[in-house]
Amino acid sequence: CCGISHAYVIFGATGNLAANKLLPALYQLHCMGHMAEDVEILGCGRTPFTQETWQIEVRKQFVESGIAEDASLDSFIQRLDYLSGSLKEAAFYQSLGDWIGNDGECANNVVFYLSVSPELYVTVTEGLAAAQLLEESHGWRRMVIEKPFGHDLESARELQHSLSDQLKEEQIYRIDHYVGKEAVQNLLVLRFANLILEPLWNRYHIDHIQITHAETVGVDGRASYYDNSGGAVRDMIQSHLLQVMALLAMEPPVSMEAEALRNEKVKVLQSIRPVNLEQLATHAIRGQYAAGEVKGVAVPGYLQEEGVAAGSHTESYAAMKLYIDNWRWKDVPFYLRTGKRLQERRSMVAVRFKQPPMQLFQGSGIYQPHPNWLLIGIQPEDAVRMEISAKVPGLEMHTRQIVMDASVSTPGERKAEAYEELLLDVIKGDRSLFLRYDEVKAAWTVVDPVMQRWAEDEQLPLQYPAGGWGPKAAEKIFGDSDRGWRHSL
Ligand code: BG6
Repeated sequence: CCGISHAYVIFGATGNLAANKLLPALYQLHCMGHMAEDVEILGCGRTPFTQETWQIEVRKQFVESGIAEDASLDSFIQRLDYLSGSLKEAAFYQSLGDWIGNDGECANNVVFYLSVSPELYVTVTEGLAAAQLLEESHGWRRMVIEKPFGHDLESARELQHSLSDQLKEEQIYRIDHYVGKEAVQNLLVLRFANLILEPLWNRYHIDHIQITHAETVGVDGRASYYDNSGGAVRDMIQSHLLQVMALLAMEPPVSMEAEALRNEKVKVLQSIRPVNLEQLATHAIRGQYAAGEVKGVAVPGYLQEEGVAAGSHTESYAAMKLYIDNWRWKDVPFYLRTGKRLQERRSMVAVRFKQPPMQLFQGSGIYQPHPNWLLIGIQPEDAVRMEISAKVPGLEMHTRQIVMDASVSTPGERKAEAYEELLLDVIKGDRSLFLRYDEVKAAWTVVDPVMQRWAEDEQLPLQYPAGGWGPKAAEKIFGDSDRGWRHSL
């Protein structure tokens, strides 16, 4: 791919995502030799930078984040250019057209990255189309669209409708950075490069599956986005966690090719049983953090965060119990949860197997028979752990749990950041890790009724102190079973 000439045009180049993820990822691709000599990166935004002042700004950000000031950084900075203007005005797209047109061969292939507020997705697409910048007469034009794709089912439909007026499906890259994480891709390898899991991977052997994404950060300077367009369900469950669930539950694909993978994922999403709205309190739980202490530091509650509307009902925590009505998974609960300002930053999958049909060994004291667990760390650890029973040394036949433990990466091995992988895939034209519209639609179909019900609810989400594991009532999701949340590997 290092031979492919292209240009990146980043809309929203001065925003958080560009600074924290996109530009650092492009820098890594540059350092690893994945960028042709003539690749250029054009930042677009309202801030009136010039090429020179933007280069200075990016260099400053990089150095502050610990990147060494060396020849690699110098040559990367040389790739940067900047175009300021209003995305709502035709004149801007004319200037962009001049930049692309004047920039020789390389810019015939262009990635347009929409790292702007979702209300602008259609504006930018229509602006580009009107200036004929989406036409692929001399090279390719690809559009990367950040989540959320719409803010509910209806708006996702409208967005898709507007985009498909201007773009062919092959030009659209709906990004879900979670799917680009090494440990998330490893779910596919664990399942389909090994034979030992497959015979057990079904309703006959699995009791339930938990998918957790816990964060210690709060709204983190993004309150205006999060409070209006976010909330834990929209921000994390509709996209990232349902994708993880689809990868865990899908049937083996016929190949790793994009359509083959997405065909299997979408079947899972379409088979999710509608959430039981009659008993919503035990199927979907929402919470909002109150003031508390995270890792010894006092932090304000959600409602006190700057930029959050007074009395906001936006949830910073959500847990859901979902079922997949198909042959493999019928009646196996999948528990998904995510929250901000929790005790630890940890994402993991926990699979609990059923108990053996007979207990031959009696437990005593702490030595009780335990079910097997398969624990898969996504971050910060990328470990794979299996908890199994073994005999306690001694004269009695007592059992206890031991752990078979493996770290996926070896010390010193560099893990690729999700955005590095995904940005490279866009250049290669590989859409296997990007979402197809039918997946997005199926995911909205799952969460939409719950969000609507919550929107009608006059009560605030359950308050939970920052620094804990979310609202106590989140345990209600397990009913009277012997299940409970696993917080650690
Ligand atoms: C983003 C959400 O998509 O994912 C954020 O908008 C969240 O709210 C983030 O913090 C989590 O992803 P990661 O990769 O930072 O763990």
